[in-house]
Amino acid sequence: MVQTLTILGLESSCDDTAAAVVRQTDGAEAEVLSSIVHGQTELHSAFGGVVPEIAARAHAEKLDVCVVQALQSAGLTLADMDAIAVTAGPGLIGGVMSGVMCAKGLSAASGLPLVGVNHLAGHALTPRLTDGIAFPYLMLLVSGGHCQYLIAHGPEKFTRLGGTIDDAPGEAFDKTARLLGLPQPGGPSVEVEARSGDPKRFRFPRPLLDRPGCDLSFSGLKTALMRMRDQIVAEKGGLTRQDRADLCAGFQQAIVDTLAEKTRRAMDLYLKENPAEPVIAVAGGVAANSAIRAALETVCTEKDTQFTAPPLNLCTDNAAMIAYAGMERFRTGARDGLDLTARPRWPLDQTSPAMLGSGKKGAKA
Ligand code: KG4
Ligand code: ZN
Repeated sequence: MVQTLTILGLESSCDDTAAAVVRQTDGAEAEVLSSIVHGQTELHSAFGGVVPEIAARAHAEKLDVCVVQALQSAGLTLADMDAIAVTAGPGLIGGVMSGVMCAKGLSAASGLPLVGVNHLAGHALTPRLTDGIAFPYLMLLVSGGHCQYLIAHGPEKFTRLGGTIDDAPGEAFDKTARLLGLPQPGGPSVEVEARSGDPKRFRFPRPLLDRPGCDLSFSGLKTALMRMRDQIVAEKGGLTRQDRADLCAGFQQAIVDTLAEKTRRAMDLYLKENPAEPVIAVAGGVAANSAIRAALETVCTEKDTQFTAPPLNLCTDNAAMIAYAGMERFRTGARDGLDLTARPRWPLDQTSPAMLGSGKKGAKA
């Protein structure tokens, strides 16, 4: 029998409070009926990073508003939903708890089933929501909080090939912008500056390229940039516009080269086991960077692999991806009870050793 599922999704694991409604009929493409995102950038801007307590309080205040807006904008009510999906981790624990408590309340009051979702699975399954990509595929998550290569085999089955051992690339862009007095979020500001800069003037390291595998490291780039900046200031008394542009260009080129080479290696590992119609998908805010995107597309052409990147509003944190990932779990029969717990750490690939590092979202999953 053909089944249509309509799922309400909630997301609150970092600094975006979000709710969305996603619908899919068997055999047809999934549809995002609404996707509401309330960002918290201005609440944290004075502190130079996300303050977990402020984030948690803001999520608790905004979640119900987001749910009402998502239902209204979809033209539906709770009675039209088949289940409620919520990010149950990984992320900043206060924020994740706010979402889980809200979803439990809605589930208890409406009698709707509850489905806990891994935030990273939400990102990793987005190419299925947007492009109907079939399993298996290779996924690169690059954002302010994540950086990992995953092979997606099924809604809850992922193999992690590698990831960052310290900062995520978005975090490195944000720190670089802060060191150069550029506005936040740092990625877009650094990208704009880099356009008029010479990427060869400053020699940035290419971290971990001398080691096999596809683990990455980005924290050394910011230290290198700080030293270069301090040296120019000591010699000339300050930075010119051109100095700043050249620093941005050198820094960005180091990230581009590193991601391109590590992606080549991740693809070789993936292609060994999945040679038929290979696909690589990229998601996360850093995927908006045109130099990074162009480099990844070149690697895909070299390896004769299809490249796909969801639209930016579904690459960055949102609840449509949580509703969709919840739908995939729901279809497999998965249900969670009111004992669903919020998890600060929750690796997608339980067999890989835990990654270290801080990240915008706290400990890496
Ligand atoms: O996925 P996202 O919205 O949030 C999470 O971190 O989960 O990603 C935000 C990150 C920020 O660090 C931002 O600086 C970075 O993505 N970003 C970029 C660009 N646009 C956003 N990084 C490099 N180049 C860009 N054009
Ligand atoms: Zn995310």
